[in-house]
Amino acid sequence: MGSINIKSICCIGAGYVGGPTMAVIADNCPEIKITIVDLNKERIVLWNSNDLNKIPVFEPGLKEIIKKVRNKNLFFSTDVPNAISNADMIFISVNTPTKTKGIGAGRASDISWVEACTRQVAEYAIGETIVVEKSTIPVKTAEAIRSILMSCSKEDDQTKTSFSVLSNPEFLAEGTAINDLQNPDRILIGGDDQGSIDALKNIYLNWVPENQVITTNLWSSELSKLIANAFLAQRISSINSISALCEVTGANIEEVKKAIGLDSRIGSKFLNAGPGFGGSCFKKDLLNLTYLCEHFGLPEVSKYWEQVISINNWQQYRIYKTVINKLFGNVNKKKIVILGFSFKSDTNDTRESPAILICKNLLNEGANLFIHDPKVKKSQVEFELRNVGIDNNLNWIFTEKLEGIFDNADAILVLTEWGIYKEINWKSVNKVLRNPSWLFDTRRIIDPDIVNDYEFNFWQVGRGNDL
Ligand code: NAD
Ligand code: UGA
Repeated sequence: MGSINIKSICCIGAGYVGGPTMAVIADNCPEIKITIVDLNKERIVLWNSNDLNKIPVFEPGLKEIIKKVRNKNLFFSTDVPNAISNADMIFISVNTPTKTKGIGAGRASDISWVEACTRQVAEYAIGETIVVEKSTIPVKTAEAIRSILMSCSKEDDQTKTSFSVLSNPEFLAEGTAINDLQNPDRILIGGDDQGSIDALKNIYLNWVPENQVITTNLWSSELSKLIANAFLAQRISSINSISALCEVTGANIEEVKKAIGLDSRIGSKFLNAGPGFGGSCFKKDLLNLTYLCEHFGLPEVSKYWEQVISINNWQQYRIYKTVINKLFGNVNKKKIVILGFSFKSDTNDTRESPAILICKNLLNEGANLFIHDPKVKKSQVEFELRNVGIDNNLNWIFTEKLEGIFDNADAILVLTEWGIYKEINWKSVNKVLRNPSWLFDTRRIIDPDIVNDYEFNFWQVGRGNDL
């Protein structure tokens, strides 16, 4: 394709990536009209809601941008065909979860949503159209997208179409999405058509410095996304494995983290021990990577990355076991307060949250859980627990308020590092607990010196016994 000036964008998928990403592009490129489409009508209604507290994705800074650009150059719609027909560039931002059935079930990524919307693009696109993979997909997916588009290209003068396919993976993290999109470490564009690459690059150059936009071939770009997530997840499993060693040796993971992180080759970021990584992507992308390695005849590489997932599962399990052990091996009918259900702070996303399995295991032991989260809705907690076989709410209640939640509790378990939990007055909390009671801090947000003064039984991930 020759030089292309993009005037109209369609983004398929109004989720955690599609919504924030397009909002930031719309904000930086007022001359481009962007329409985000989704099959999920309810989601689109919420994105169009007058009450900005109802938009379906909670991200600091997002509602302010939506207020500025919505219905100016950013639109939300369920009319997929129309948005495709009017677009010069189409972003595919749909979900790519782990397959649950068939070949590769439990490991390979399910690209059926990517294929479905590619077929819609093939059917409704008009003229020269650039298709951009934003979703995280297995390496070589662009080949499948290209085959579908080419086999459906139309030749008659009225509807003549031509397509080019680019890979432009997204590296935003939830909770910091707006800042990550506005100040990205890098923008990665994979492709082989220079005109299309330049068209996409020119969009980003409206706010990203040129030296931070890198271009590669399609397969390097697709693979780099999986590998970035695999390396990040590996760091968390590494530090979590060492947190267990700290606990039994009297070392302190915070001190070890500082000592190793000052080595500039290691670096200090992404070394927080915790209840294990959650979120919709790390596990799914690692599983996909292990599947791909096996598929391409590299079982040793596959096993290496599998271990990152095993340690993550083990970390969640050992936290649950620690709670049981400290409470004399029995939590039946004991009141345990769960602080935080989202997979990290500053997001309402609960996908793969460590809280799910930890709560499930405690409920199966007979505990009474009082679950609190400032942004997650009760229906979402219900959905997640039902998915893991907890089909009634006899033993757990959800509350949006902290007042009264600690009365007569046997234990408190901090699972998400929400800011409000850092402000809790532990001295007054201690007065209302049942004795003996325990405070478990899996996120290391509580200063041990403070709680020690109040004679709490206190456990913190990665903190050795003799401290
Ligand atoms: P999501 O589930 O929040 O959103 C995907 C949306 O796509 C859903 O609303 C769904 O209804 C819609 N959809 C599916 N098929 C469709 C179709 N044919 N037509 C119209 N709409 C359709 O998912 P997400 O978290 O936004 O992730 C999307 C992709 O981005 C995934 O591949 C993920 O791995 C990747 N990713 C996610 C993040 C993140 O932080 N969530 C970050 C980087 C990359
Ligand atoms: C992650 C990556 O950071 C993004 O770059 C990527 O785009 C995204 O996945 C994706 O592909 O979906 P996200 O999962 O939103 O982003 O959030 P992270 O900040 O990476 O946290 C993931 C999990 O790791 C959380 O449960 C978090 O609590 C945990 N974590 C993170 C730790 O336990 N310790 C740390 O030091 C950092």
